[in-house]
Amino acid sequence: MCGIIGIVSQEYVSSKEILKALKRLEYRGYDSVGYALNDGTVEKDTGEISDFMRRTKEKNFRTGIAHTRWATHGGVTRENAHPHTDCSGDIMIVHNGIIENYLEMKNKLLEKGHKFRSETDSEVIAHYFEDKLNNMDLKDAITDFIKEAKGTFAVLMIKKGEDRIYAFKRDSPLVLGIGEKEFYLSSDIYGFSDKTDRAIFFNDDEFAVIDKSYKFYDKDGNEIKKEVKRFQWGFSEEEKETYDHYMIKEIKEEGKAVRRIINSLNNEQHEKILKLNKMIKKAKKVAFVASGTSYFAALLGVYFLNRVDVESQAIIASEFRHFIRVDENTLVIAISQSGETMDVLKALKFAKEKKAKIVSIVNVPHSSIQRISDLSLEILAGQEICVAATKTFINQVSLLLYLANLNGLNVNLNNLHRRIQETIDNNESKVRQLAKTLYRERDIYVLGRGLTYPIAREIALKLKEISYIHGEGMMGGELKHGTLALIEKGTPVISLIQHEDYEMLSNTKEVEARGARVIKISNDEKINPDFYLKTSKDEKFAIAATIIGQLLAYYIAKEKGLPIDKPRNLAKSVTVE
Ligand code: AGP
Repeated sequence: MCGIIGIVSQEYVSSKEILKALKRLEYRGYDSVGYALNDGTVEKDTGEISDFMRRTKEKNFRTGIAHTRWATHGGVTRENAHPHTDCSGDIMIVHNGIIENYLEMKNKLLEKGHKFRSETDSEVIAHYFEDKLNNMDLKDAITDFIKEAKGTFAVLMIKKGEDRIYAFKRDSPLVLGIGEKEFYLSSDIYGFSDKTDRAIFFNDDEFAVIDKSYKFYDKDGNEIKKEVKRFQWGFSEEEKETYDHYMIKEIKEEGKAVRRIINSLNNEQHEKILKLNKMIKKAKKVAFVASGTSYFAALLGVYFLNRVDVESQAIIASEFRHFIRVDENTLVIAISQSGETMDVLKALKFAKEKKAKIVSIVNVPHSSIQRISDLSLEILAGQEICVAATKTFINQVSLLLYLANLNGLNVNLNNLHRRIQETIDNNESKVRQLAKTLYRERDIYVLGRGLTYPIAREIALKLKEISYIHGEGMMGGELKHGTLALIEKGTPVISLIQHEDYEMLSNTKEVEARGARVIKISNDEKINPDFYLKTSKDEKFAIAATIIGQLLAYYIAKEKGLPIDKPRNLAKSVTVE
């Protein structure tokens, strides 16, 4: 988490520019914000970037670094906000990641008389370099840091009076953007994708010195040549336009986004999906790995492949190495919107060590997960700014449906974008009404079975993260094994009933019999559902039902006046373990 930005420009630019670039990374964390310029200016505070921008005085600069924070070590206070400086204030750093051995490093520096001002692990970096510079140059000090520091880091460092940024990283993402008259350093390409489409991606334990030009070095300080890559990233969808929130805008883009992925799988990415299919057939074991919403897409992947007689499993990334044995005959398929989720990256590194083949399904091109994969497919959902995944989930699921369809699953994907649009158009106002009756609830249960079980989990997650309601998504069949005890008169239960799923109907009756307030979402008109989704009777129902859940979480949160796009304590790109 946390977003870092650095700019080295040949011409003077306003400090607003670095904050605008930082704002593009705000989805990575939004507890505190700050920047440092090479004249020694350090401005930082808690709160959001827009407020900070209004409060701070504009200043012109040529070299600066900035940071938007998602707190790990130390509370949300001004002192803990980045940038951090050494004792003199001459060395200024921003850091994304966690220095695991910071206490050990800090104690040594305290013994030498360094004065610390924050509770963070990051501050140790500035003092470490202050100390090293007593008897070596900065380049050598960086190679020492890379050898001594344990943990994860993407660091930008400037020195007062120098038009230069020093950048180094391990495990946390870092990329250099090459503009006409300026260089950008950023946690991801979105930090500068409005300015340039040329970038160089840092590998672990590499560092760079950027001034009028740039030089990259390996961990021993040997200069290395790096490839400049061109990237494509949708610009047209970035603005919130007339919508109140990105979340609703992104839900309403789902039809368009699905059309894009299906087209691409039929054309540019066709060879790739065929290759993935071949790899699946060849592998002795197929395991999906993902976190959060992407994990629910993975569960659907298992369900779809099972329908076409391909056995697979889905494992939560942070538990991966505890629950599976992998070897050279295993195919690991990572699903990740951001392509940066640390839990997924760690699982993939583990799988790679065991010689497993790695395929990824990501939204962000050139992301770390894509770069360590043997094969990577892109879901082409366009930039998703709201912390809650909506259109990216729908595109992940669409890609997996396409894969199952290649293997014989009978599902018509050509009309999927229209079905999505109809689902939104026909149900939005009804969902808004429902939200008015549910927003005071503390708990909402969501039940599903088979196809609808992962959707129940996903809807519950949306209720938690956006509406701050305890949502419990579960298998209908598991109710009677315990949770039924919690159902009483009026308890809201959303029941996802696939056409002619009589077992799910029985589970629905079980909660009705205990007085629950049941909201039925179905593609089976006979059962007289609250939301009748006229999708065909096939797996597309999973997508349509998800959309009702997304809209519900959105309108409940709106009713409660919550910060929908930036829910408390969360961040879009989870780059810590
Ligand atoms: C989704 O709404 C969540 N914010 C979160 O669970 C997310 O899906 C998870 O962190 C995984 O992210 P990824 O897809 O970028 O790997």
